[in-house]
Amino acid sequence: MDRLSGSANLMIVSDLDLTMVDHDDPENLALLRFNALWEAYYRQNSLLLFSTGRSPTIYGELRNQKPLLTPDVTIMSVGTEITYGESMVPDDEWTQYLDHKWNRDIVVEETAKFRELVSQSDTEQRPHKVSFYLEKGKASKVMQALSNCLEKRGLDVKIIYSNGIALDILPQAAGKGRALAFLLEKLKADGLQPHNTLVCGDSGNDAELFSVPEVYGVLVSNAQEELVQWYAENARGNLQILHATERCAAGIIQAIGNFSLGPHLSPRDVRDSVFHTKVLSPSHEVVMFYLFYERWMRGEIENSEQYMQYLKSVLHSTGNYVHPSGIDRPMHQIIDTLKMQFGENQGLGFRVWVDRTSFAEISLGSWLVKFDKWELSGNDLRCCLTKVLMNSKVDAPNEFTWMHLHQTWLDGSRGKDDIPWFV
Ligand code: GLC
Ligand code: MG
Repeated sequence: MDRLSGSANLMIVSDLDLTMVDHDDPENLALLRFNALWEAYYRQNSLLLFSTGRSPTIYGELRNQKPLLTPDVTIMSVGTEITYGESMVPDDEWTQYLDHKWNRDIVVEETAKFRELVSQSDTEQRPHKVSFYLEKGKASKVMQALSNCLEKRGLDVKIIYSNGIALDILPQAAGKGRALAFLLEKLKADGLQPHNTLVCGDSGNDAELFSVPEVYGVLVSNAQEELVQWYAENARGNLQILHATERCAAGIIQAIGNFSLGPHLSPRDVRDSVFHTKVLSPSHEVVMFYLFYERWMRGEIENSEQYMQYLKSVLHSTGNYVHPSGIDRPMHQIIDTLKMQFGENQGLGFRVWVDRTSFAEISLGSWLVKFDKWELSGNDLRCCLTKVLMNSKVDAPNEFTWMHLHQTWLDGSRGKDDIPWFV
């Protein structure tokens, strides 16, 4: 969170499974729309938090499967583990706080008495979370009985039912809502409270996110029965909470618009966007450029001279480009290569997205822009750490020219012979 020099404009706190990530959308279209929106307009001055029931192990698996952005804060295991930044530094203060009136051994001992409870995998058993599967029809009865048992043993726990199948037992002080309240307190103490916070969820363990004071909330259209029921009983008529008509990440975008929290038209929703959108910042420029590149390689746009003119106006004629293999070329060669490559990645499910975009004005009108550029083509996924030196014209501050482009493989594992000509 140190990335920001002041309060975040918007803080989005989103669940992952069936909220940010739509498992019924193999092309991840809504997620890619959200990514483009976030990187173009929000990354620089806002905060992205993921709050998931998943343990670190299976959160990592999801990140390998889906085009998820890197969040500023990751809250895992139903609000029992908080980590910061790309390197996921754990918040030990939070972990210690959760020890209060918690005794994992007693929870394990008592739950063993319930035959209806089927243990989840070992990865999902965490220091402050004990998790089971439980049939929907038996849920309320078992939860009541279990709650009585644990209370008798002197424990103060929270029992949460999600997705019509999963049962989690956590310390009372834990949960997604409590973890968010803890973070908001921390930000407040530093005078960095976000201007607006939007929480997003679809299932039972998300319900308490919506009770955090002053937040806006969105239940995605595909929300689970238990959350819809919670909404009907607790939040109907609350104008700060929306039950979206759109699924998953599309519902989040809908909520940003509904509550007027900022730009809500994803660059992906604009056809021929490079001609019809006024560029607002270097990060917006980057998103637009790579969107053009994706569409060009997919052969989705017209192979017209107009696009060549666009490239010539963006890529400076005397600039240069250092490919991740280390080869240095004049910038105009990118244009020549792209000209030949039109439509080459058609039918490969080719997608490009950027993550962790940041920029700084290093001297008047001169910008250093950094981001991770991801490319998916067939089953091949690559990432380049990318730096671009851009100039903006004094008389046209919204027009950027790429002077120098430098890329490095993220994992350094690619062979030198493996040189696809991409930007
Ligand atoms: C995730 C976790 C699981 C938990 C469920 C509901 O699926 O992996 O352990 O029970 O969320 O919170
Ligand atoms: Mg979910």
